Amino acid sequence: MGTTAPSTDGPATAGPSVARFDPFAGPPHLHGAQRVGVRPGTELIHPLAATGARPLRFEVTGLPDGLHVDAEGIVRGRAPAEAGTHRLEVSVANAEGRAHDVVELVVGEALCLTPPLGWNSWNVYGAEVSAEVIVRTAEAMVATGLRDLGYQYVNIDDHWHAPRRARDGAPLAHPERFPDGIEPVARRVHQLGLKLGIYSDAAHLTCGRCFGGLGHEQVDARAYAAWGVDLLKYDYCFAPSSGAEARARYGAMGDALRATDRSIVLSVCEWGFRRPWRWAPEVGGALWRTTPDIFDTFSWSPFGVRHIARRNLRLADHAGPGRWNDPDMLLVGNRGRGASTGVLRLPNQLPAPLRGRRIWRFRGLSDHQVHSHVTLWAMMAAPLLASHDLAASSELDLALLTNPEVLAIDQDPLGAQARKVRAPLGLWQLAKPLRDGGVAISVTNLTRMRRRATVRIDRVAGAGHGPVPTSGRWHVRDAWEMRSLGERRQVEVDLAGHGSTLVVCRPA
Ligand code: GAL
Repeated sequence: MGTTAPSTDGPATAGPSVARFDPFAGPPHLHGAQRVGVRPGTELIHPLAATGARPLRFEVTGLPDGLHVDAEGIVRGRAPAEAGTHRLEVSVANAEGRAHDVVELVVGEALCLTPPLGWNSWNVYGAEVSAEVIVRTAEAMVATGLRDLGYQYVNIDDHWHAPRRARDGAPLAHPERFPDGIEPVARRVHQLGLKLGIYSDAAHLTCGRCFGGLGHEQVDARAYAAWGVDLLKYDYCFAPSSGAEARARYGAMGDALRATDRSIVLSVCEWGFRRPWRWAPEVGGALWRTTPDIFDTFSWSPFGVRHIARRNLRLADHAGPGRWNDPDMLLVGNRGRGASTGVLRLPNQLPAPLRGRRIWRFRGLSDHQVHSHVTLWAMMAAPLLASHDLAASSELDLALLTNPEVLAIDQDPLGAQARKVRAPLGLWQLAKPLRDGGVAISVTNLTRMRRRATVRIDRVAGAGHGPVPTSGRWHVRDAWEMRSLGERRQVEVDLAGHGSTLVVCRPA
C-alpha cells in the first residue's frame, strides 16, 4: 500500500495518483460482497475475500448446516432448502492481526445482491477463447489477489461452441479450443473458489454466428447446470426488435435456468434498446446491458466511455441489490489492442462480403481516461468485469482493479447507483449514498484541460438522493490514494484533462 503507480505519460502530465494495495502483505482485511444471494438447496461456492500476509486463518460462525469453510476461506456446500437470511460472523487472522466482518447469506431467488465482480473473455480474446485461456485467467485471478478482493466470475463469452449441436440437440463445446468440454473447466474454476460464466443468444445464432439458444432453452439450461455453470450472458443478435418478444425470449431462458438445481445468474444483453431495466428483473435477469458494446475510446461516440457513462447514469433509479445496470466490461489493460475493443467492424448480421470488415482502429485510453472509467463504473455500482490478459497486467492495471476502497464503493450493500448531481462546465459531480450513512463523491473532468474546482460536500451529498443530516462537517477520505483528508466542509480538486477524483465522506 502507499506507492503510486507509475505514469506512462512522463512528468509534464503525471499519471493518476492511485495507491497500489498489496493483497498479500500486512494485517488481514475482509473485502467483497457483504450480502450474498443463493437459491434454496443449490450449490454455493463463495470465497470470503480476505487480504493480508499469508497464512490467513478463517473462523466463521452462523453457517447453516450443509455449508463449511475450507482452509482458503471458501464457503462451500449446499444452501439450505428454506428461504431465509443467515448472519455469518467472519473472522480472519494472521501474524499481524485480526479482522472481523458480517456477511449476510440470503437464501432466496435473488442473486448478485452486490454487482458481480470478475472477468469476461470478449474484449481481449474475441473468437480466440479457449479452455486454456479460461483456466489461465482463473489462476491469474488468484495469483494477482483479485479473488481475495472479491472478484469471482470468470466468464466465457461468444465462440466457445462447436460448429453444431449434438444430434439430440445438446450443446457442444468447440472440439479444439475446449477439447474436454466445459465441465472440467468449471471444475478447475470452482476448485479455485471462483465461478464460471457462459454465453448464448436468444435466437438461432449468436452474434458470432455460433448456435443460439432459441427453442433449446431447457436442454441448454440443463447442460449448463450439469457442467457447473454459474452465470449465463444471453445476447440478442438475430432476434426480432419487438420488446414483447425480447421479454418472452429472456423469460423462457430465465424459467429454464430456475428449473435447474444451480444458482445461475441471468445476464441480459440486448444493449438497452428495449428498456430492459423495466422488465429484466421480472424475467430473472440480475443485470442488463444498458448500452451498445464498449470500445477502447473515451469519446462521445455511442461506443465511447463518456457516452456510455452518460446514458447509464440516467438509469440510477433502476439499480439495486439483485438488479444492476450494466454499462459493459472494463477496458483496463486493453490499450487499444483488445481483439474486440481495439477495432470496430461491420456487424455479423450483414451479408458475407461486408460482415466483419474493419472500419476503425482505436488507440486505447490514456492513464487518466482509464482511471476515470473505473471511477465512473464503481460509482455507478456497475458489474466490474475486467477483460484483459490478467497475467500481463501492468502496475497501473492492478492498482485500478485492486483498490479495496474503490471496490467497497462499488460493492456497497445499499446498492445505490450514483447520480449526476452537478456538471458545471464539463465537471461531472456524482454522489452515491453508502449503507453506513456516508456518501461517495466523484468529480470527473470531461475536458482536455486541467481544471480546479471546490466541491461543497453538503451540496453534492444531499442532492439527488434526498437531504443528508449533517453538521456540515465530514470526515473525508481519498479512496484512490487510500488516505484521510481530515475533517472538512469542502474538497478542492485539481484534475488533469479527463482525470477524476473519488472521495468518501462520512458525517463528522
Ligand atoms: C455482443 C455483446 C458483446 C459480446 C459479443 C459476442 O452483442 O454485446 O458483449 O458478447 O456480442 O459476439
